[in-house]
Amino acid sequence: MEIARFSRIGFILAAAGSAVGLGNIWKFPYVTGENGGGAFVLIYLLTVVLIGFSIMLAEILMGYLGRQDTVTAFEKLAPKNKGAWKFAGFQSFTGLTIMSFYSVVVGWIFHYVVTSFSALPSTVAEAEASFMSMLQTDALTQIFYHTLAFIFITFIIVKGVKKGIENLNLVLMPTLMLILLGLFFYATTMDAFAQAVDFMFNPKWEKVNSHTFITAIGHAFFTLSLGMGAIMTYSASLEKDSSLVKSAFWVIFLDTTIAIVAGLTLFTFLYQYDSHPAQGPGLVFISLPAAFYAMGAIGNIIAVLFFSALAFAGVTSSVSIVEPMVQYFIDRFKWSRLKAALAMGSFFYLLGLVAILSNIEGFKDVLTFGSKNLFDWLDFVTASILLPVAGVAVSIFVGFVMDKQKIEAVLKPQLGSAFEAWYFSLRYIAPIGLFIVMLSLVGII
Ligand code: PHE
Repeated sequence: MEIARFSRIGFILAAAGSAVGLGNIWKFPYVTGENGGGAFVLIYLLTVVLIGFSIMLAEILMGYLGRQDTVTAFEKLAPKNKGAWKFAGFQSFTGLTIMSFYSVVVGWIFHYVVTSFSALPSTVAEAEASFMSMLQTDALTQIFYHTLAFIFITFIIVKGVKKGIENLNLVLMPTLMLILLGLFFYATTMDAFAQAVDFMFNPKWEKVNSHTFITAIGHAFFTLSLGMGAIMTYSASLEKDSSLVKSAFWVIFLDTTIAIVAGLTLFTFLYQYDSHPAQGPGLVFISLPAAFYAMGAIGNIIAVLFFSALAFAGVTSSVSIVEPMVQYFIDRFKWSRLKAALAMGSFFYLLGLVAILSNIEGFKDVLTFGSKNLFDWLDFVTASILLPVAGVAVSIFVGFVMDKQKIEAVLKPQLGSAFEAWYFSLRYIAPIGLFIVMLSLVGII
């Protein structure tokens, strides 16, 4: 068991470090681009307030009361059927699966930090060709950087929640914010800034359909690190008598602000230098480097800063994705931190190797199942199915199974009259909303 505790600020930084990741800087802008801008942003913000906040607070509460890994937390807090509820705690396993491809993407980002020092692609077509050739033919480069990501992440985890993670976040989170704010202020000086603001905040309702809602809910989950015990595991180390409500508020506020700042910055760069926002997942790796090139001499510096910020965001999230399972083996099997971190690391590392191969010509065919290759399946199954399913489990557990008095004792003094509103949204709005998402994903709606 961890004896060292997070201060409230330490916890907020760690949880924000978990939440702010590739989801904010890589995914949010391209998903916004694909879904028509302003209306998507509005629906996403509404989802964060209505569903994200209630589940975030529920997870923080469970960790805070459970004080151990997720499996033990469910078991300990269930008034009856403890043995059955503990299985809900295995949601943490989703993390290792997420990490298999997340670590590969962190590796790409490391690679882009290095290449941004030298030549940038002069056109979008050139940028696309170089990204695609890395993705589809250059297994060695990807394996090299995936290995680097694995070593780096595992090393931080071995150092432990308090020493490794709190120190890391104390340095990286403010650095990330400084770099992003610097880039943002640079973007505000460009003519295209007004166009970016219009794109992100002027809702075009004709672009909205049921898919927009589904994407917004799924993304809210992924970006807030909900549904796999990351937040729960960190809040298990939260000091007694900390305000859980303020913590939840700050994590969500930081995550959302950073996504919006990143989005405005990226779209300004793209409009200013004639790339189109609806570029899909390649936005950051294809459209952006070409925009950096068009900036002239300063482009290389901006590119290095941008990809470094993205790497920091990815690393702090990665640590939180692996930590829940590490904590589980430490708590339940009394493994040493080193052994647990190496075992979990090896799992995502090896699966990541196969994920890399599933994009490589020659291996691709054997590793493609139906409509997607293994890499895309890992992303789809974890983010769109496993996280929301676990989210429903958390909302039902805290909303209907846990003893209400126990919950009130902690949260009523903090929430006051808003307690019932939170409890209602946790019991009804969150699970019904998530259920609809899941139904539509399997094609029932
Ligand atoms: N929230 C992280 C991001 O936005 C990813 C993540 C998902 C982290 C699930 C922990 C748990 O990139």
